[in-house]
Amino acid sequence: MSVLDITNLEAGYGGMPVLHGVALSVGRNESVAVIGANGSGKSTLVRAICGLIPILAGEVRLGDVSLQAIPAHLRVGRGIAAVLEGRHLFGELSVRDNLRLAAAHGARLRPGARRFDVAQVGALFPFLGGRMDSAVELLSGGEQQMVAIARALLLNPDLLILDEPSTGLAPKVVREIMAVIARLRESGMSILLIEQNVALAAECADRAYVMAVGRVVHEIHAGQWSTFRQDETLLRAYLGGAAGPAS
Ligand SMILES: Nc1ncnc2c1ncn2[C@@H]1O[C@H](COP(=O)(O)OP(=O)(O)O)[C@@H](O)[C@H]1O
Ligand SMILES: [Mg+2]
Repeated sequence: MSVLDITNLEAGYGGMPVLHGVALSVGRNESVAVIGANGSGKSTLVRAICGLIPILAGEVRLGDVSLQAIPAHLRVGRGIAAVLEGRHLFGELSVRDNLRLAAAHGARLRPGARRFDVAQVGALFPFLGGRMDSAVELLSGGEQQMVAIARALLLNPDLLILDEPSTGLAPKVVREIMAVIARLRESGMSILLIEQNVALAAECADRAYVMAVGRVVHEIHAGQWSTFRQDETLLRAYLGGAAGPAS
């Protein structure tokens, strides 16, 4: 059964659709990537799933619940946690306080779903242990991204959505973050990973959807990653050739 099931989705801004007939799903214990060039609609898709923009047509279902009528702030309680572009952390608060707030929120909204506590996310991101009392705004971009992922996990999600977690970060930090995503995947977390870099997506996802101009234009099924990465025509057409470094 799917955790996330999207059919025929139209969503956009000011009543104008950016997404056209998008259909995708994420199964339980599955990690699925969405790849596509800048401006192809990936973050718009995330915003529609999270309820930050209205759904103009089609349906977004989480398990057997249709999300349309559920406002954004209640979707966490339904099992969605997202790390959005820009991260939206409380910069003046310490790492510990950012995490404590999320843990309290998660415990209140999803009491039966307890999966992570602060100590467990600390073990996933060992660096956090030494930085618990630092103000988040004093951390590097990569460290902030780790706090943002840790915070999302403390909401005890059924589905973790990550919108380009590697963007703008140093290669070493990207490796660390991808290793954590890979471990989460192995632990059975259902993940929707937005990622422009095909090589990184291939490391962390079972399969993927390729978006271009607001549509899903191609699907990479499990086991097809290497074929896709060698298909120059597809890569050029959909991603401007941006396969990313081979790993
Ligand atoms: N807040 C917004 N208002 C109006 N148009 C937007 C807004 N955000 C994104 N768009 C438009 O939607 C399209 C898809 O953007 P986006 O979903 O951010 O793409 P991606 O995340 O794939 O780079 C782009 O054409 C962009 O200009
Ligand atoms: Mg984006």
